[in-house]
Amino acid sequence: KLPAKVQIIDVGPRDGLQNEKQPVSAEIKIGLVHRLQDAGLKEIEVTSFVSPKWVPQMADNAEVMHGIKRKPGVRYSVLTPNMKGFEAAIAAPREEWPDEIVVFGAASEAFSQKNINCSIAESIERFAPVVAAAREKGIDVRGAMSCTVGCPYEGEVAPERVGMLAKLMKDIGVQRVDVADTIGVGTPRKVKAAIEATLAHFNVDHISGHFHDTYGQALVNTLASLELGVWNFQSSSAGLGGCPYAKGATGNVATEDVVYMLHGMGIETGIDLDKLIDAGVYISEALGREPNSRASKALRIK
Ligand code: HMG
Ligand code: MG
Repeated sequence: KLPAKVQIIDVGPRDGLQNEKQPVSAEIKIGLVHRLQDAGLKEIEVTSFVSPKWVPQMADNAEVMHGIKRKPGVRYSVLTPNMKGFEAAIAAPREEWPDEIVVFGAASEAFSQKNINCSIAESIERFAPVVAAAREKGIDVRGAMSCTVGCPYEGEVAPERVGMLAKLMKDIGVQRVDVADTIGVGTPRKVKAAIEATLAHFNVDHISGHFHDTYGQALVNTLASLELGVWNFQSSSAGLGGCPYAKGATGNVATEDVVYMLHGMGIETGIDLDKLIDAGVYISEALGREPNSRASKALRIK
């Protein structure tokens, strides 16, 4: 039996915009977050506190967090790969702190090196104090697990590696994890295997699906995850983005397309699809292109 309701985390302002070549002002990013919360999104991944040398697109992290007019009931998350990032994320008045921080590791050694410049084991050592400090301050912690089905450098990734990473995350106090198909190569059986490996360590309520749509598989992978009871998903409005350390990978699946599918299946999301489409048009216009969402395109022609 499929879940009756789904919670979507829109990661467009972070995962999407981290990979855009042309600069997007903090004001536009804030405008996107406001439109997403008005559309009914209850969780938004806003930015990341990473090195501006590595990802210059996120250098305005503090400005963006400061500029958001928060809507009650909405949760705002940010990426923090190390203590430096965590300290920067909380170097603001408490009301500007994130509700949740995200540590991000990979099921593949090569991707861990390229993305965060350390091995998987070293990454866990770096995350442990971040997780402890966040939880001590009452901030929730999510762990993103990259390359859970495939890696741009190592090829296929075995489910056992995903299970190992999930266990490491669990052991340091991470509360929930994202099973990410970073480069969008996954197909339903592989994605199910990655989720099943994660289910050995996390309850299904604490697992989310994060699918990039490079090969057009993200919606079927979403459906496959729903069949395992997963009801938390990450997606980007207008299908923004990609990953700077995964060449050729396209953006996350478009939130509009996921919402269209879920509503068509009678699954509740609390999201107003028309307003969501407007949010996607807003950010796409700022980037000078069309939203990368089939549902958005179809519904705007009608
Ligand atoms: P490093 O070079 O190993 O770090 O980078 P370091 O500790 O040796 O520091 C080097 C320099 O960076 C120093 O500055 C530090 O102060 C600075 P310098 O002395 O040279 O002037 N630094 C920082 N500055 C700001 N904020 C920080 C920070 N940390 C160090 N937090 C590091 C390690 C992790 C920082 C680096 O590799 C990095 O920033 N990587 C960015 C990776 C990234 O953002 N990737 C994209 C997000 S992950 C993703 O998209 C996947 C996901 O969507 C799921 C999926 O689809 O798979 C989540
Ligand atoms: Mg991603």
